[in-house]
Amino acid sequence: MPKKTAPIDLSDSFEKIPVHIFSDQKDGSVFVAKQIAALIRLKQQQKQTCVLGLATGSTPKSLYAELVRMHREEKLSFRHVITFNLDEYYPIDNDALQSYNRFMKTHFFDQVDILPKNIHIPNGEINKESIKDHCRQYERKIKEAGGIDLQVLGIGNNGHIGFNEPGSGIYSKTRLITLDNSTRIANAYEFANISEVPRLAITMGISTILQSRKIILMAWGSAKAAVLKKAVEDDDTEQVPASLLQNHDDVTFVVDEAAAAELTR
Ligand code: PGA
Repeated sequence: MPKKTAPIDLSDSFEKIPVHIFSDQKDGSVFVAKQIAALIRLKQQQKQTCVLGLATGSTPKSLYAELVRMHREEKLSFRHVITFNLDEYYPIDNDALQSYNRFMKTHFFDQVDILPKNIHIPNGEINKESIKDHCRQYERKIKEAGGIDLQVLGIGNNGHIGFNEPGSGIYSKTRLITLDNSTRIANAYEFANISEVPRLAITMGISTILQSRKIILMAWGSAKAAVLKKAVEDDDTEQVPASLLQNHDDVTFVVDEAAAAELTR
């Protein structure tokens, strides 16, 4: 009897990272929220904390909205969740409108039952001399928490993850980084004008991110289509930091149709 042939999955031949395509951002965000909720509940059953790595920017807003809804309507609790955010501008006041500390409170933390002591975000207020120590301690706290179970990422138009701009090495750790001009332009909408966008930021490194047990990168909209193709289909390179995720064995990209438009499949 002839062997049954498996349906041909064209994506395999071109894509070096698994990509889930959803019709829109809302559906993709609900899918990611369900994965996070399942992990939190599994860890809770095992009487363990769940350690989440979190992102800011426009990409994860609908994810946080869905998690807040699940908290309110489905009793999803964050009491045993520990979080580590990817990055923060430097310098910036924690309560400045554009700070990622403020973003996280507004969009997520103030609306769920997470314990303040379990929240970690790089501090844009510390003095310059303390930054190296702050970054070392950030790495240590991640290790002490048992490592990140699930890291959520967005992707910059230039391929950055966190604020790891092109050129960031695969062994990089949490550190101070100079923002690319393209990043400052992309994020200028959050500020009165481009000159007010900080030139520096504190970011988890590529190796910090790669040490997470599971990684989900989200991308919405046609502006991300070109860089998404590079990250997924081309050889990995420090010039496209998201492509370095090809070196992780449990990473998924969750994207909408517009962001997937340039994939070869
Ligand atoms: P965005 O940024 O979510 O605002 O598109 C993504 C990123 O820079 O990582």
